[in-house]
Amino acid sequence: ATERTFSILKPDATRRNLTGAVNAVIEKAGLRIVGQRRIQMSRQQAEKFYEIHKERPFFGELVEFMTSGPVVVQVLEGENAVAKYREVMGATNPAQAAEGTIRKLFAESVGENTVHGSDSAENAKAEIAQFFQDGDIVG
Ligand code: CMP
Repeated sequence: ATERTFSILKPDATRRNLTGAVNAVIEKAGLRIVGQRRIQMSRQQAEKFYEIHKERPFFGELVEFMTSGPVVVQVLEGENAVAKYREVMGATNPAQAAEGTIRKLFAESVGENTVHGSDSAENAKAEIAQFFQDGDIVG
C-alpha cells in the first residue's frame, strides 16, 4: 500500500552540499518527496527525537552531531515507503551497507551516516508529526 515515512538528511550531508545528490537517489528509487524543510534542530528537538536512545553510550554524541549544522527533514511517500527507504539507505554502518545505497555512496561513519529513516509505519507517523503540520505535506 502507499504509505509515508520520515527522513532526515543529516548535518554531514548538508555540510558537504549533498542534499540534491541524496534526493536524486531517493527519487530514482521511486519515492516521492511530499514534504521537505531545512532546519537547525535545537538540542531539545534532537533529545526528544532520539529519546529511545537516551541510555545508549552514544546518545550525547548523537545529539551533538544532529545539532551541529542544518538538517533537511522530509516526508517520503510511495509503495511500502518505510521498508523501501530503509533498503535505499543501506545498513546503519556504512562499512556494511550494500552497493548503490545512500550510506554506501555517501556516509562517513556509523555516527555520521548521512540519513535517518523511520523503522516502522507507527514511528513514521510520530516522527512526521514532530516536524510537520498537515498543510506542509502535499502528496
Ligand atoms: P538513526 O537511524 O538516525 O538512529 C539512531 C542513530 O544513532 C543512528 O542513525 C546512528 O547514526 C547513531 N548510532 C548508532 N550507533 C552508533 C554508534 N555506535 N556511535 C555513534 N552513533 C551511533
